[in-house]
Amino acid sequence: MNIAIIGSGYVGLVTGVCLAQIGHKVSCVDVDEEKIGKLKQGKVPIYEPGLGELLKKNLKNKRLTFTTSIREATRKSTAIFIAVGTPSKKNGDADLTYVENVARQIAVNMNGYKLIIEKSTVPAETGKRVARTIKMNLPRKQKLDFDVASNPEFLREGSAVHDFMNPDRVVIGVESKKAELLFREIYKPLKPDMVVTNISSAELIKHASNSFLAAKISFMNSISQVCERLGADVLKVAEGMGFDKRIGRAFLNAGIGYGGSCFPKDVDAFIRISEKSGYDFSMLKEVRKVNEEQKTFFVRLIEDKLWIVKNKVIGVLGLAFKPDTDDMRSAPSIDIINALLQEGAKIKAYDPVAMPNARKILKKIVYGKDPYEVAKGCDCLLLLTEWDEFRKLDFKKIEALMKQPILFDGRNLYHDMGLEKIGFEYYGVGRGDRHVNDVGA
Ligand code: UDX
Ligand code: UDX
Repeated sequence: MNIAIIGSGYVGLVTGVCLAQIGHKVSCVDVDEEKIGKLKQGKVPIYEPGLGELLKKNLKNKRLTFTTSIREATRKSTAIFIAVGTPSKKNGDADLTYVENVARQIAVNMNGYKLIIEKSTVPAETGKRVARTIKMNLPRKQKLDFDVASNPEFLREGSAVHDFMNPDRVVIGVESKKAELLFREIYKPLKPDMVVTNISSAELIKHASNSFLAAKISFMNSISQVCERLGADVLKVAEGMGFDKRIGRAFLNAGIGYGGSCFPKDVDAFIRISEKSGYDFSMLKEVRKVNEEQKTFFVRLIEDKLWIVKNKVIGVLGLAFKPDTDDMRSAPSIDIINALLQEGAKIKAYDPVAMPNARKILKKIVYGKDPYEVAKGCDCLLLLTEWDEFRKLDFKKIEALMKQPILFDGRNLYHDMGLEKIGFEYYGVGRGDRHVNDVGA
């Protein structure tokens, strides 16, 4: 099928490249000319494992093209995915300016039947508004048929290609049989379990799923607080809970809280959507509060153990909101580092791929060329993103390089490595060493 993807960011690009890989002819569109220029040359502007090879392969076989023209892509496509950004407004509402603008541009350029699909995470009822916008902007005198549909994405950054190719389910919200059949054709090569429903339910499935996962993490972060105080080990608690099939082990990792472009934004948006509908989703407000507090607890622990933070040199391993991505959006590292800078600490940091993005946000810190350069002369080290390469470091060397061998492990990455035995003062999250009591948190 001929398919257009409007918005070639983390979500749109992965979707476009993977749809080409499974056999469709895909035109990816973006307003960013520089980005489109790079993509045309087979250069991926983001870090996403596996995406580069598929991009090059499908450029070569001409199933994938890039353009800045919505007109060109619309006219040659039957299905059009909207995957432009939906940033948060100050009050938590999703800003749908880009979505509206794209809907209008699709409408004025239509030349036949089109299936217009929301891929961006949008509040329930956006589908209706998109349909109305298109209807109002269709070329006059022409009777053009179209369907609007919702097809939320569930891709995790860092494993987005794998997630696309092996979906747990494909959710589609449709209002016509024709739209449903087109979706079935699009996704046929993947043979997925399909959940077919109306547009509002599909939109809600996305918000409900992400909020539920965020709640699972915050629940475990609260458990980690109790563990600290009662001498229990959150890792064993998670293991014990996770064996129960009704609970499952995934997303039970306590740490410094969730970040990224989805969970914080979607929880905020879902709280607002519920509020506007007349329901106070207080449980989700607590999920958000626990997530914020988790970072504060971590900073308080560091302050307590260092005693005086002012002028101390603090090394940071990992800046991205999670491993295998260069994405810094709502990364917990930002709040933690800013709080320590506020106290007068000097920060040195290293991340395998996120440093170019981090430099735009964290301007008052020094960036190291590797973990050893960061560790040199430090009063303590913080592990903030659990990159695999950080497990393989030479810790005897790091211990020798540091001024004081204190390690705060925000992701429990080193829980089983016996770092205490080689001289480290080691603190994980929720490991029952009661240190939170000491700081009166
Ligand atoms: C976006 C949404 O933010 C998210 O809610 C949704 O679930 C998926 O799409 P993401 O792909 O991570 O997420 O955003 P981003 O990487 O910022 O990509 C958006 C792209 O759209 C950018 O490349 C931007 O240049 C482009 N864009 C934006 C357009 O092409 N046209 C516009 O009018 C606005
Ligand atoms: C998420 C959803 O998983 C995906 O389905 C959706 O479409 C987009 O949002 P993503 O943000 O890429 O994906 O990453 P994810 O792996 O879900 O992690 C989100 C955050 O939660 C990260 O900051 C991660 O460190 C944190 N997390 C995750 C925990 O703190 N504990 C866990 O147990 C799992």
